[in-house]
Amino acid sequence: MPEAKYHRVLLKVSGEVLAGDGGFGIRPAAINAIAEQIKEVASMGIETAVVIGGGNIFRGIAGSAEGMERSSADYMGMLATVLNALALQNILEQKGVYTRVQSAIEMKELAEGYIRRKAIRHLEKKRVVIFAAGTGNPYFSTDTAAVLRAMEINADVILKGTKVDGVFDKDPMKDPTAKMFSELSYLEVIARELKVMDSTAVTLCMDNNLPLIVFNIKEKENIRKLMTGEKIGTLVRKTQTK
Ligand code: GTP
Repeated sequence: MPEAKYHRVLLKVSGEVLAGDGGFGIRPAAINAIAEQIKEVASMGIETAVVIGGGNIFRGIAGSAEGMERSSADYMGMLATVLNALALQNILEQKGVYTRVQSAIEMKELAEGYIRRKAIRHLEKKRVVIFAAGTGNPYFSTDTAAVLRAMEINADVILKGTKVDGVFDKDPMKDPTAKMFSELSYLEVIARELKVMDSTAVTLCMDNNLPLIVFNIKEKENIRKLMTGEKIGTLVRKTQTK
């Protein structure tokens, strides 16, 4: 087996990926594909944490745009991430991967509460830790939760799995002339308002010098390739070297 480049990683999976082509809800076949990739990373001995979004079920910001009070809408979005986390846990465990779900909002009948030191201990014991309920606070995205948790567990890198190959200068779903960046600096992402993560999440990465790789999670081999150091997707880091 090729040598792993990383010791500990945090994978951010958007909720939409769990919906498959249906675009809404949880499709076991779509989770299955992601779970296979996570299993492969874990089997390389890489300590793996996952933050999952909730956009396949409910998106707080969209709810508030349609007239709901923002905080209530965001809490609903956080609950959506718990559904996704439990679904992913179930499929991973069916594949023999040991997991623990920790929720930022206490719901002890369903999941452990978030305790940083315990999460790190789980990772050391080679359990995949799935962080649910975002940061537990409204007004923060699950991208920001992913960066926060990545720093708290001292992850080497944050991997953002999306439906497209990386970061583009225009929306590749709408414009076929869109060009993908192989590398960007945090400041370029912010200045060009590139849709990588929201600005709070990117700033948090920048302030703490946490590298971020945006890649297509739908391509089966991509996570394994990344783990062995292949250049996939777009790397966002402090200075851009061409
Ligand atoms: P170590 O003792 O460090 O090896 O970790 P462990 O997770 O195996 O120990 P623990 O006894 O804390 O947990 C046993 C099981 O109970 C695991 O599946 C945990 O995820 C689960 N668990 C622990 N705390 C809670 C909780 O507050 N709520 C729920 N629902 N499950 C919990």
